[in-house]
Amino acid sequence: MTRPVLTMEGISKEFPGVKALADVDFELYPGEVHALMGENGAGKSTLMKILSGVYPPTGGTIRLKGTEAVFGSPLDAQRQGVSIIHQEFNLFTNLSAAENIFIDRPEMAGRFGRIKWSRMVEEAQALVDSIGGGDIDVREEVRHLGVHSQQVVEIAKALSFRADVLIMDEPSAALPENEVKKMFEVIRRLRSQGVAIVYVSHRMKEIFEIADKVTVLRDGRKVATQPIGEVTEQSLIQMMVGKEVQQLYPVRKQPYGKEVVLKVKDLSLDASHKISFELRKGEIVGLFGIPGSGSHTVAERLFGLKRGTGEIEINGRPVKITSPSDAKAKKLAYVPPDRHRQGIIKPMSIRQNISFTMLPELSKGLVLDRNAIQRVSAEYMGKLRIKAPDDSQTVDFLSGGNQQKVVIGKWLAAHPDILILEEPTRGVDVGAKAEIYSIIHELAREGLSILLISSEMPEVIGLSDRVLVMYQGDIVHEFAHGEADQEQLLQRASHPRGKGGAL
Ligand SMILES: Nc1ncnc2c1ncn2[C@@H]1O[C@H](COP(=O)(O)OP(=O)(O)OP(=O)(O)O)[C@@H](O)[C@H]1O
Ligand SMILES: [Mg+2]
Repeated sequence: MTRPVLTMEGISKEFPGVKALADVDFELYPGEVHALMGENGAGKSTLMKILSGVYPPTGGTIRLKGTEAVFGSPLDAQRQGVSIIHQEFNLFTNLSAAENIFIDRPEMAGRFGRIKWSRMVEEAQALVDSIGGGDIDVREEVRHLGVHSQQVVEIAKALSFRADVLIMDEPSAALPENEVKKMFEVIRRLRSQGVAIVYVSHRMKEIFEIADKVTVLRDGRKVATQPIGEVTEQSLIQMMVGKEVQQLYPVRKQPYGKEVVLKVKDLSLDASHKISFELRKGEIVGLFGIPGSGSHTVAERLFGLKRGTGEIEINGRPVKITSPSDAKAKKLAYVPPDRHRQGIIKPMSIRQNISFTMLPELSKGLVLDRNAIQRVSAEYMGKLRIKAPDDSQTVDFLSGGNQQKVVIGKWLAAHPDILILEEPTRGVDVGAKAEIYSIIHELAREGLSILLISSEMPEVIGLSDRVLVMYQGDIVHEFAHGEADQEQLLQRASHPRGKGGAL
């Protein structure tokens, strides 16, 4: 049997007040894709940050090809053959791809501090080509590249030293489905070159498609490592959550009302595309489209982030929404897909973030009602299973998924009339997913109207009363509840004039 390229033994990590990891063993073999799974806050990112030299462990040892290794910094780890790609891209968008790949590298500096430009371009291009990015011109500024190409640059950067181990922390979170396929091709290529790849993800489907082995963490401890052929989705969930998760999609108990709460007529998405639709009281309408279909623009237009023409009526009255504060005043709320950049105030506590949008309601005159604030914050912290010592914890120190839950909690707690949810469960673990779905249903039952924009087909199908399908800036089909399956949905979303013709 081959020897492991890397071994972690008895790793523990303590942060003030938090034991993030306890006595974790982890082994990696050359040429394997090793999935790392666990609920939000289980310790996945922390383990990978220790492995890549971001933090020292509180205890335990790391062995690289049999000899003990200490990684003083990410650069140090990279030099020794371990590279990490973090959840968020770390690229300078106004520099070229080549500069990003070889940033700060002394061997690329010539005399008088001048960069050896042609050598850098040549080597960067070779690297990008070797992982299947032949259509990328590395002289191009990163901001002109598509999201997959940016990721290829990110991977090339990680591989710019010879990497034995490549860690990818939720690499697919920012990628649409078709781009995930391309990323898998890159991963398979690296695997065949003998690189050991750690793949951190919450997406079951991906794990079964790409991984050879899976390790599950729960509450900072290792539950098990198993070959992918020996686990099922159900057994993985059980290992992660520690118990059976009941039904993921709740059964809709009550039909929605008749009143039209939101009426959109000829809302322009760009110069040549306009859409119209209605949302009733307590109704959940799914909006599904492949990337570029315009579904994201619908949210931006409704929430006043982008201007254009068209009519919007709320509760029968024509309204003008030209800014997010207009939208908020009209009782609209929007959970954006990119929650790291929008919607969260990282230096503030969980409690402050959750109660932020409802401070007016939680005040008695000019005085804040601290008990009410605490109640609301505790309620959503519990419902969304936000993992932290308590709600005074600064959001900055939460795990990625728990930060997302805070943003969702904040908007759910705001009790709007119309809620636009875009990718509400991206990066969120299965247990919390079930909770979020049941909260969505509860809110709809209370009369909240929800526009659900999501690229996860099971989610759109499982939650929506109706599904609108978008293709290239138009609504091309409407499915009633229970009418759509994944195949039909995808067909409509990619071929507007399939069976039955356009709507
Ligand atoms: N810098 C930090 N300071 C304090 N606590 C931290 C810090 N980084 C992580 N933690 C805590 O350590 C625990 C593990 O977090 P980690 O980021 O490793 O989780 P994760 O498994 O990656 O979760 P997710 O799926 O949400 O990304 C969490 O309770 C988190 O709040
Ligand atoms: Mg993480």
